[in-house]
Amino acid sequence: MIDGKKVLFSGMQATGNLTLGNYLGALKNWLTLSDEYECFYSVVDLHSITVRQEPAELRKRARNLLTLYVAAGLDPKKNCIYYQSHVPGHAQLSWILNCYTYMGELNRMTQFKDKSSRHADNINAGLFTYPVLMAADILLFQADVVPVGKDQLQHLELTRDVAQRFNSIYGDVFTVPEPYIGKTGAKIMSLQEPTKKMSKSDENPNASILLMDDPDTIIRKFKRAVTDSEACICYREEQPGIKNLLDIYCTCSNKTVEEAVREFEGKGYGEFKLAVGESVVSVLKPIQDEFARLSKDKTYIDEIIKENAQKANYFANKTLRKVQKKVGFPEQIR
Ligand code: TYM
Repeated sequence: MIDGKKVLFSGMQATGNLTLGNYLGALKNWLTLSDEYECFYSVVDLHSITVRQEPAELRKRARNLLTLYVAAGLDPKKNCIYYQSHVPGHAQLSWILNCYTYMGELNRMTQFKDKSSRHADNINAGLFTYPVLMAADILLFQADVVPVGKDQLQHLELTRDVAQRFNSIYGDVFTVPEPYIGKTGAKIMSLQEPTKKMSKSDENPNASILLMDDPDTIIRKFKRAVTDSEACICYREEQPGIKNLLDIYCTCSNKTVEEAVREFEGKGYGEFKLAVGESVVSVLKPIQDEFARLSKDKTYIDEIIKENAQKANYFANKTLRKVQKKVGFPEQIR
């Protein structure tokens, strides 16, 4: 609790171009929850280097991501928006938690298996212990809730296990966090292979909608989206393409699946795809415009970076000191 409010933590990697999946699965929910909770939103650049990065490019992407958080509507006066690398406590707590996490647990992580098969030439120890750093991110701020897409649920489960294990040894040190998953949009699928997650690393450009795609590109990609020959706009597993488009439409237009299915009853796929594309444009265009405006305001963004890093460090150090004491490190002499 901070000032009587429960705490929320979440983060995104600044690797590759962000997709509509990142927005609908995570960022959109951050906006909805930001009044209710004391929020920490990190640009998790420590996580990014588990895969080889071009330094200048990483720096640029990280800044763009931080600017995007603000452009999407997160008020930097109310929400703590910061770079993970500006808060040393993440790495410090991560080391400690490494000693309370089992190899067997990390071996089971599907994201590790997936990433190590895609980056077979660089299966580094950081990639393996990545979920421990993620647990440290969350536990450092004593977060009650963590809004994420479905693909992060396994990491959240591990975070809870590590927190409970630590608490069972040392008493109530960590808040055990709950995941927050949206009713729709928690797993946006590829537009070309709708049984696969929409991902920033997809090589087929038509598979993903990028947050910075212009309106024409967005509409074109939706027109090309893979569907089926059922000629029915129904929400069911047997029609993964249509189901995914309905998910996207409902999340963008804040409608329920029932409302959307009723709206498109008897209509053709062409008309439906266009409506989905338009609903996405109406959500992304204002964010893109605000992003373009904010990107030019260097002083404003720098100020946010500086102030929020101080705030994040203050809360992170509180937890870190407590943990260090519990495990038996000597107090610092000031
Ligand atoms: P990342 O950067 O891959 O994704 C950021 C967020 O976007 C969600 N997401 C999706 N949601 C729905 N459909 C999709 N196709 C889709 N693709 C991505 C992800 O679930 C995530 O919520 N390890 C995390 C970053 C992280 C983190 C944290 C998150 C580091 N520390 C602490 C929460 C709390 C990651 O790589 O997310």
